[in-house]
Amino acid sequence: MAASRVYLDHAATTPLDPVVRDAIVAVLQDLPGNPSSLYAEGRAARDALDEARAQVAAALAADPGEIVFTSGGSEGAALAIRGAAFAAAREGLRHLVTTAVEHHAVLHSVQALARHHDFEATVVPVDAHGLVVPEALLNAVRPDTALVSVMYANNEMGAIQPVAEVAEALREHPALVHTDAVQAPGQLPIDIPALGVDMLSIAAHKFYGPKGVGALFVRRGVRPSPQIVGGSQERNRRAGTENVAFAVGLGVALRRAEAARPTSAAHNARLRDLLIEGIAAIPGSHLNGPRRQRLPNNVNVCFAGVDGEALLLGLDAAGIAASSGSACTSASLEPSHVLLAMGVKPDLAAGSLRLTTGRGNTEAEVGRALEVLRELVPRARPATTQSTAL
Ligand SMILES: Cc1ncc(COP(=O)(O)O)c(C=O)c1O
Repeated sequence: MAASRVYLDHAATTPLDPVVRDAIVAVLQDLPGNPSSLYAEGRAARDALDEARAQVAAALAADPGEIVFTSGGSEGAALAIRGAAFAAAREGLRHLVTTAVEHHAVLHSVQALARHHDFEATVVPVDAHGLVVPEALLNAVRPDTALVSVMYANNEMGAIQPVAEVAEALREHPALVHTDAVQAPGQLPIDIPALGVDMLSIAAHKFYGPKGVGALFVRRGVRPSPQIVGGSQERNRRAGTENVAFAVGLGVALRRAEAARPTSAAHNARLRDLLIEGIAAIPGSHLNGPRRQRLPNNVNVCFAGVDGEALLLGLDAAGIAASSGSACTSASLEPSHVLLAMGVKPDLAAGSLRLTTGRGNTEAEVGRALEVLRELVPRARPATTQSTAL
């Protein structure tokens, strides 16, 4: 990242921690073996993989045998959702429940099962703050529900969802509970016994690890159908030669993110609150998402009458990296499905901005971002809505 730039898009991805980079390079250089090979080089790679798995398990309060390495958050969601759905269909359970504010990795997985594989899906609405109402979600659960997928924390507007409450209420129900916890590591505690979920997905690039690797926790005894078949890697849950270097990177990144969490979450919350306060003083601004039950690093606002894309381009030109919602939709002109689900009007949603802070950000950077926003927001309003149109 160039020193003069201010990076405020940590929910999209985070810069690689140099300690993680060194651990990855060491594996790439020193461990050429295939972890399935029985000779010394293979065993050395296997040891590194086992250690990474143990590290991930320890950070999540899980058992190493319950961790499946994946290629990231999307694959974790696919294995959890498609895998659980296809396994449950054998028992006659063909109903799926999720929420309207999930990442597309979850929402599209559920919708594709309904569209193409004869499942039924219920997408539960959220309240005006983007929060799932547990009773509404539980009311949607039926005797034939195979899976409930509710995210831990929202990537666009930061709402922390009542996952533990939902999982507890479904403890005696045959439905499995998956949570997309991709935005949680380093921000929120991930204590799987306390959350009570059956499956939980994370991705390393959201906590200063590399892109293209993730992990799915699968509770012992739960058997999602593998979505990639072939070899017997990952205890037959995900075929393919393991990416040992990135698995090691994920393990180191997660350990470090968890160790730093108390200080980094407090640091992020301070910067978040400065941003929220500063933006509130800009006329026509509106905070999206809950004020309290919110990720410590997330700010999401709408500016009435503002063209979000013009604002983003202006910020970029001024050296500030931000997002208009989720990275995956920021290239499209469609208003965010998350903001629409919260009842934000499409024209207001078109002027949305997400700023997500990280460990490297400073108060001075936040001050600069606010200064630029104060200048840019009035300019990003089309001429017809400006009071001093020339
Ligand atoms: C909440 C959430 N779930 C899933 C994903 C998908 O993760 P990945 O890009 O690693 O596949 C993301 C990434 O933006 C996310 O924020």
